Amino acid sequence: MEFNDLIKIIDGFRDSRIIHSAVELGIFESLTEEPLDSNMIAKSCNCDESNTELLLNALVSMNLLNKSESLFSNSKTATEYLVRSSNQYMGDIIRFTGRSWDSWGKLTDSVKSGMPQEPLYTEKQYEEEWESFIRGMHNFALSRSDAKITADVVDLSGKSILLDVACGPGTYSYELCLRYPNLKALLFDLPETIKVAKKISSEYKLEGRLEFVEGDYKNDDFPANVDCALLFNIIHQEDGKENQSLINKIFQRLSENGILVIKDHILNENKTLPEDGSLFSVQMMLTTGGRCYNEIEVYDWMSSAGFSEIKTVGPISPMTSAFIIGTK
Ligand SMILES: C[S@@+](CC[C@H](N)C(=O)[O-])C[C@H]1O[C@@H](n2cnc3c(N)ncnc32)[C@H](O)[C@@H]1O
Repeated sequence: MEFNDLIKIIDGFRDSRIIHSAVELGIFESLTEEPLDSNMIAKSCNCDESNTELLLNALVSMNLLNKSESLFSNSKTATEYLVRSSNQYMGDIIRFTGRSWDSWGKLTDSVKSGMPQEPLYTEKQYEEEWESFIRGMHNFALSRSDAKITADVVDLSGKSILLDVACGPGTYSYELCLRYPNLKALLFDLPETIKVAKKISSEYKLEGRLEFVEGDYKNDDFPANVDCALLFNIIHQEDGKENQSLINKIFQRLSENGILVIKDHILNENKTLPEDGSLFSVQMMLTTGGRCYNEIEVYDWMSSAGFSEIKTVGPISPMTSAFIIGTK
C-alpha cells in the first residue's frame, strides 16, 4: 500500500462524518429548489454561517456539491442518493449508521472485553430511528439493485407460498411477487417492523398477495407448508447456535422440495475476504455481538438441518453479499 493510501484510510472518518452531518443538517434538502449561497443555506439549516461555509466547501471537494461563484448546488450523486424525493435515497440508512458513531469510538474496548457495545437501539425504545433502520434496508435493496438481482437469480418457478423470515421492509418479497404473478408472500417480523413494512408495501400494487405475521423468530413458530423461505441479511446478527436453530425451524416448515435461500456477506475459508464482509463482521461484533460467516459454516448448518443440493450463487456485482440455496 502507498503512503497516501494509508493516510486516506487513517483519516477516512473525516469524509464519513462530513456526509453524515450534511445529511443530518438537511444540507442537500435545502438545495432542491435552487442554488443558494452559504449564508442562505446556514439560515435554512439553522447553523452557524462561517462553519457552514467550511462544511459546504469540503462537500464540493468531495463532489457532493457544485460551487459556481458563491452559489452551491447539489451534484448528480447528491441528487440521486441524498435527496429524500429520489427513489434511490440513502438518507435513512446514513442516519441509521451514523447512530453507531459512538460505538465505533469504543472498538478498542470491545476487542479487549469480548463484549459488544450497547445495541444501538431496539425496535420498542426508539420508534422513529427504528423506522429509519427498516427504511434503510429498503434504500439499499433498491439503490444497489439487490432486490432486482434477487428476482433475476432466485428461481421460484412453480412455487406458490414464500416465507420471508425477518422480512424488514419486505422489499425482496415485493420484487419476487412482481416477478412471479402466482406467488403469495408471508412476511414475518417483530411487531414494530411489521408496522413499517405495511407502510412500505402500500407503495406496491400487491393487494391480496401479502400476509404480515408478527412474531419473534427465537420463540415463535413459522407458518407451515411454505415452498420457499428467505433468510436475508439475518445470520450476521446471530451466533452459530441461534442460526442452526433458525435453519432447523425453517426446514420443518418447508414443504417437500421447498427451498431455503440465505443472503449475506459470505467470507472466504480463512474469513478475511471479501473486504466488505470482513469489515461488516467487525461492525456486527460491535453492535450486535454477531459476525459474518464463511461458506463452510453455513453449509454445515444447512446440511445438519437436512438440506441437500446446497449451492452458492454470487456475489453478483454490484451486490456485496451472496446467496446460499438448499433444497428440502
Ligand atoms: C438487517 S434487517 C434485515 C431485513 C430484511 N431481511 C432485509 O434483508 O431487508 C434485520 C431484521 O431482523 C428483524 N429481527 C431482529 N430480531 C428478530 C426476532 N427476534 N424475530 C423476528 N425478527 C427479528 C428486525 O426487525 C429486522 O427487520
